[in-house]
Amino acid sequence: MPVYFYQPAEDSYLISDCVKKYVYKLKSKKIKVLDMGTGSGFQSKNLINFGIKKENISAADINAYAIREAKKLKISVIKSDLFDKIKNKKFNLIVFNPPYLPEDKYDKEIDTAGGKRGDEIITRFIQDLKSYLLPGGICFLLTSSLTPNSWKKEVKKQKLNMKKIKTKNIFFEKLYVWEIRV
Ligand SMILES: C[S@@+](CC[C@H](N)C(=O)[O-])C[C@H]1O[C@@H](n2cnc3c(N)ncnc32)[C@H](O)[C@@H]1O
Repeated sequence: MPVYFYQPAEDSYLISDCVKKYVYKLKSKKIKVLDMGTGSGFQSKNLINFGIKKENISAADINAYAIREAKKLKISVIKSDLFDKIKNKKFNLIVFNPPYLPEDKYDKEIDTAGGKRGDEIITRFIQDLKSYLLPGGICFLLTSSLTPNSWKKEVKKQKLNMKKIKTKNIFFEKLYVWEIRV
């Protein structure tokens, strides 16, 4: 486990922009939100700035250092391997900027490497996603051109609706933001 937490980067900003557009269009900001893999709490901090009440934001991370940092925001924060410790809760909006790179080729850090292939964490997330979305709920998920595509099979298997809403070129890769609905 690293003794640090992820510092906001291009991926953080890109997904946050999409969340901002979505939240600003909402008639009511009284929605329950989950910031999965919160890291520094960057997405939660922005959600607060976009008008979501702190009591309606939950954040989860597997990294104890991220948990300690996110708790400073005075939101509900839980140390959890994806949804493992998030029982009996459902959300209108789930935001996940996951570890999405193949482990061997690039690194082995839990904030960036999503498993040997690179999409294992994302695939596990998709497997459970439906159970944690309220009716009409939506998820924003970030991936990259370096993420293998097999997680999309799980999206089909779970009969989820998905569309790519944003693409950004950065150095040697492209970042994508996906909107996923039940
Ligand atoms: C790319 S960072 C994103 C951090 C932050 N949300 C942002 O946008 O800047 C991915 C985060 O997912 C967390 N993470 C990795 N594996 C996880 C898992 N199995 N369950 C929960 N969080 C996980 C990492 O610790 C890290 O904080």
